[in-house]
Amino acid sequence: MKLDADAVEQFNRDGYLFPIRVMSADEAARHRSALETYEGSSGGPIAGNLRHKTHLLFTWASEIAHNPAILDAVESILGPDILLWGSSFFIKEPHTTSYVSWHQDGTYWGLDGSNIVTAWVALADAPVESGAMRFWPKSHLKAQIPHNDTFASDNLLSRGQEIAVDVPEDEGVDVPLRAGEMSLHHVLLVHGSKPNRTSDRRIGFALRYMPTSLAQTRTRDYATLVRGKDAFGHFTLEPRPAADLDEAAVNAHKTSTSAQVAAVYAGTDRTEYRA
Ligand code: NI
Repeated sequence: MKLDADAVEQFNRDGYLFPIRVMSADEAARHRSALETYEGSSGGPIAGNLRHKTHLLFTWASEIAHNPAILDAVESILGPDILLWGSSFFIKEPHTTSYVSWHQDGTYWGLDGSNIVTAWVALADAPVESGAMRFWPKSHLKAQIPHNDTFASDNLLSRGQEIAVDVPEDEGVDVPLRAGEMSLHHVLLVHGSKPNRTSDRRIGFALRYMPTSLAQTRTRDYATLVRGKDAFGHFTLEPRPAADLDEAAVNAHKTSTSAQVAAVYAGTDRTEYRA
């Protein structure tokens, strides 16, 4: 499942690649069902800190994070020694107003490099009308652009951050995906998405992969070694969950998300993810 040279060149040129099938529609449905079984038992959509680093809490989410097809593609771009820094659900309920403003991912992460790739895995069909992502091609070549925080309530981003430049809407590329497919995008690629106008949930699980050489500049931080070896020791390595929500998993998740929140919300008084 390694990417061929043309695909890697396309990623480097445009800042993204899609669609890439990484599991069957049935397997995606199985993961969706596991998520929704948890949501049914907990009384509502997965939210707050649990929406983030979810791979530390549930065996099925950890399975996605370690999916060999995803890692083969990511290895083609990042090389053999790979850390997973974060994972986040981006769920839009049917006929709702949730959206994601134009942004670059790494703006508030505190990481000291830009060779970071997001694998956005669709656990439900994500047609354009569902508020699929939109990419601004080649924008990853512009380096980091300033953002303004809005903390807008319908914005799914941590600070409701918006990029402080006008994005030419007609240059945006829609990124529709079928369940079980993923897109890859560069950490500096400008992207966003609109509300879900369909009658099904749009469920994406975004995985943030980086080489072991990167470091966190703001705090002692945690990451999962998903492939190869870590010769740097910049991050405390996280355990995989042995069972869904068991005590060790919940504790590891709590420790890890606290550090990530400290980095992502540096300069604010927030102590938890807001949504
Ligand atoms: Ni993003």
